[in-house]
Amino acid sequence: MATTLVILGATGDLTRRLLLPALYRLYTLDLLEPLEIVGYAMEDWSREQFIAHIKEGIPGLESHHDLKTWNEFSSHLEYRSGDLSPEKLKELGPLVPDNGIFYLALPPQLFGQAAEALGKAGLNDIQRGWRRLVIEKPFGWDLASAQVLREQIHREWDEEQVYRIDHFLGKETTQNLMVFRFANRFLEPIWNSAHIAQVQITYAETLGLEGRWRYYDAAGALRDMLQNHLMQLFTLTALEPLSVWSAEVLREHKVEVLRSVRPIPEGAVDRFAVRGQYTAGLIGGRAVPGYLQEPGIPPHSRTDTFAALKFYVDNWRWQGVPFYLRSGKRMAASYAEIAVQFRPVPGLPLGQRETPCNWLVFQIKPSEQMDLIVNAKRPGLGFEDRQVTLTTPYLQEGETEFSAYEQLLMDILEGDHAQFLRFDEVEWSWRILEPVLAAWKTGHPEPYEANSEGPAAQARLMEPGQSWRPLS
Ligand code: BG6
Repeated sequence: MATTLVILGATGDLTRRLLLPALYRLYTLDLLEPLEIVGYAMEDWSREQFIAHIKEGIPGLESHHDLKTWNEFSSHLEYRSGDLSPEKLKELGPLVPDNGIFYLALPPQLFGQAAEALGKAGLNDIQRGWRRLVIEKPFGWDLASAQVLREQIHREWDEEQVYRIDHFLGKETTQNLMVFRFANRFLEPIWNSAHIAQVQITYAETLGLEGRWRYYDAAGALRDMLQNHLMQLFTLTALEPLSVWSAEVLREHKVEVLRSVRPIPEGAVDRFAVRGQYTAGLIGGRAVPGYLQEPGIPPHSRTDTFAALKFYVDNWRWQGVPFYLRSGKRMAASYAEIAVQFRPVPGLPLGQRETPCNWLVFQIKPSEQMDLIVNAKRPGLGFEDRQVTLTTPYLQEGETEFSAYEQLLMDILEGDHAQFLRFDEVEWSWRILEPVLAAWKTGHPEPYEANSEGPAAQARLMEPGQSWRPLS
């Protein structure tokens, strides 16, 4: 049976920059089963125009051999123009004879309308084969809008047909979190509040708005990064071991973590959340404007370009362990990690001062690697200790890495839901953040200079004796 991928909104940035390069790489690696790809958008383009547009986004198409492969691949590309009316979408019917994937590369406010229209056009259901719908975060703007979106989608599509992408779930380090946690005997006995003192999840970017000011000013860091990407890294760090490897069990366990998060008290949001907004500074020796001076941003915008949260998970495993999450734009480094700090040892019988705590760090950026920070004897006379790092790059020589989109597109083609969000995961994440969203409707974010570690106020989240790890 043939499989057809229809991309709605195919003339946009996501399609050219991420989706088609990923599909093309999978094709060159001979990993794609036969696949027809149909671009669909409002632009009145010819098929040739669409192909030329996509080709510009494929890196390194130079040699004769590359071009031959590209020509083979592009013979499977089609283009149709049209709007999101069921009448117009119906015309796609003959192009999708059997299995079909409908990828909504559209502005998020159109997800509900497009999903319904595809259903009304009869594209959600067929006698043989399958039909799938793909959408990508943000899923709603808050709990209420996420619930409306779920209802809209479910009017025409079953939950099993829906693939909600959070591209962090396709990242190698995210996937490694589960493998590393559950494939190592030594870890599970100490992966709990008896041995772990705190967990810090940081995703710092030096990037600014990259031209996305309209979206970003309405969203802010909390909605853009923490509600989804960082919340996913958090659930995977905290979840219970799975009894079987299945998408449903995995997602059930993730929801269970979210349900156990202690609600943030409405009147005490400041003890659990900090927001910041960058001011002008120098990044890589280049002067960058402050957020309020960025083109398009209203001069009094109170959008958070940095957000930090503290959670407690009220279950047996994590009672009392703070989980700190933070992400910001225009920070001092492009640096991301999940860092787990272990409790101190009860004191060495060697007459020394306090021994520093161990850390296990899953570094995502700048390089994917795992670091175990331990104490060992300092060479020389006597019994001094010092910290050393046992480190390994994630990728070993000769190994092939896949991008998040390559991973996730393969999963969609294979019908594997494990790395996609179920509707209740999305809604629980929003539910946890509701008090913060409400509190942040008033007041202002703390300013922080571009190229810094973020607002000084983030320190107030930390428990006594704990501090944020530096971005390095
Ligand atoms: C996106 C956010 O979801 O993730 C961006 O909208 C952010 O603001 C990006 O820059 C970070 O992901 P990555 O994989 O590009 O580092």
